[in-house]
Amino acid sequence: MAGIPSEFIDQLLDRVDIVDVISPRITLKKAGKDYQALCPFHTENTPSFTVSQNKQFYHCFGCGKSGSAIGFLMEFEGMEFVDSVETLAQSAGMEVPNQGNYNTNNSSKNLYQIVENANRYFVNHFHNNQDVQNYITNRGISPETCQTFQVGYAPDQWDGLLKKLNQSNQAELLKAGLLAQNDAGRIYDKFRGRIMFPIQDRRGRVIAFGGRALLPDQKPKYLNSPETPLFHKGKELYGLNIARKHSNSKSIIVVEGYMDVIALHEVGFKNAVATLGTATSQHHIVTLLRSYEEIVFCFDGDQAGIDAAFKALVISLPVYRDDKSIRFLFLPDKHDPDTYVKEVGTQAFQTQLDNASMLSTVLLKKLQENLNINTIDGRAQFIDKSKAYLTELPKGQFRKLLTEEIEQIAKSSIDFKPPKPPMKLQSIDQWTPVRKAIAILLNQPGLVINFPADMKFNQIQQNGTNILQKIVELCHQSPNISTASLLENFRNEETYSHLSTLTSTSLNLNDEQMLLELKDIKKHFEKSIRKIKIDRLRQKQANDGLTNEEKQKLVELLTNQIL
Ligand code: UTP
Ligand code: MN
Repeated sequence: MAGIPSEFIDQLLDRVDIVDVISPRITLKKAGKDYQALCPFHTENTPSFTVSQNKQFYHCFGCGKSGSAIGFLMEFEGMEFVDSVETLAQSAGMEVPNQGNYNTNNSSKNLYQIVENANRYFVNHFHNNQDVQNYITNRGISPETCQTFQVGYAPDQWDGLLKKLNQSNQAELLKAGLLAQNDAGRIYDKFRGRIMFPIQDRRGRVIAFGGRALLPDQKPKYLNSPETPLFHKGKELYGLNIARKHSNSKSIIVVEGYMDVIALHEVGFKNAVATLGTATSQHHIVTLLRSYEEIVFCFDGDQAGIDAAFKALVISLPVYRDDKSIRFLFLPDKHDPDTYVKEVGTQAFQTQLDNASMLSTVLLKKLQENLNINTIDGRAQFIDKSKAYLTELPKGQFRKLLTEEIEQIAKSSIDFKPPKPPMKLQSIDQWTPVRKAIAILLNQPGLVINFPADMKFNQIQQNGTNILQKIVELCHQSPNISTASLLENFRNEETYSHLSTLTSTSLNLNDEQMLLELKDIKKHFEKSIRKIKIDRLRQKQANDGLTNEEKQKLVELLTNQIL
């Protein structure tokens, strides 16, 4: 097999979804559990080409061609086996190994099994613990719903799971993010005294967990599995597998929290999923639009909720489809779906769903925010802002109608300059915060005002933080520095060509989007820096104790961490 270990091929096919591979290349239509299309390999008028997501396999009843995602690429793109594997691996963020450097014990099959065993251990403990069951009952969740979501409990012990699952599996448990290791090398259970919500992939396999603190003073409130070979946060949605199984609604509700999904399920809204403590990604939206006619995003009505909604809206634009709909529901301040259905009522939530705003409404409102549309100046600004969003949309009826609506409001036609050829359109979704920050600052050095001059990025051990530090310092020193002169400072450095690529990359973000991104990135860094400081103080506390001043500092840091 040209030197690629078969275990890697297994792992690769486990990771990619054949529907993701085929759907950008030919138009797939959902038909029951499967997808259908006109066969790309022979001429036909009625579709006989079928893709099964369950089996991860395509088959044409007309010409008999069939195969895996790898086979499809070979057949459709005329690729060699190795190229096809390379292409898929790249899209899945995996590196193709040589026979020499691949450890066959790494097979993720084993990892799935171990995570499943851990899940069973948590579920057993849930059934044996009256306090935990009382907590769940008090939150209005029935035993049936607990069973559906396989709610578990990680007992408050340092080595419960470690002992139960046998020392020989330590390495795997570490890899699955279920054990942690301190600086002294001691290995212990990562989840302790927490209610466990298993996260399943779309095939129903448990791949990660969210653990909620049982006690009110236990921090953080939710502890999530880290990224592991099985778990990629931007790709997974909590509850998707369960929603698919229990509801045949054509609409999917996207909420923020685990308990929101469960509480909605309890009262009959079985079509809810949650993003996992991260923002909605384009991948989430594409995935959902593939199987649902409509997405309803549900956000808190506070400023953070409104910002998050707009971010989700902006991400949706390039993947918006005329045959689908995206709507937004804003709950009253201080409510999440869980408290809302309990305190205000199920019927009221249904009404909220029915009245959720269309994407176009939310966008039009946002575009007119702080503008006086009765003045020429206001209308000019309105058009200017609108253009950036309109050009994000794929060509089609929706874009056409929205353009017409905007022209009517502005009492003027929009002059789309011949679209500037984008140098290279980038989706920065998948980038690390450091890379995003560098790219944005290189493109718009003035935005540095969003980062304090004394922010110490280079304390954080992430790739590129030293470069980011230098860029932030340079921008602060010369507030009007141009992109080009900023770049000159790096000419003699190894990263020069990489940085110039980032500079010439069209980020495909407008000013407002860049600002929103930077706000998020700043929060991310502040959190990381706080964590480093806390860890350092904790270390000192354990070794030689803390001075009063340091103690106070620690309390302050821990408080900020919670807020
Ligand atoms: P919330 O703080 O709104 O919690 O976080 P919640 O979902 O309402 O939880 P309950 O009702 O108090 O049990 C919303 C989501 O953000 C993520 C989790 O996914 C959570 O469900 N989150 C929150 C974390 O990942 N870590 C945290 O410490 C807090
Ligand atoms: Mn809640």
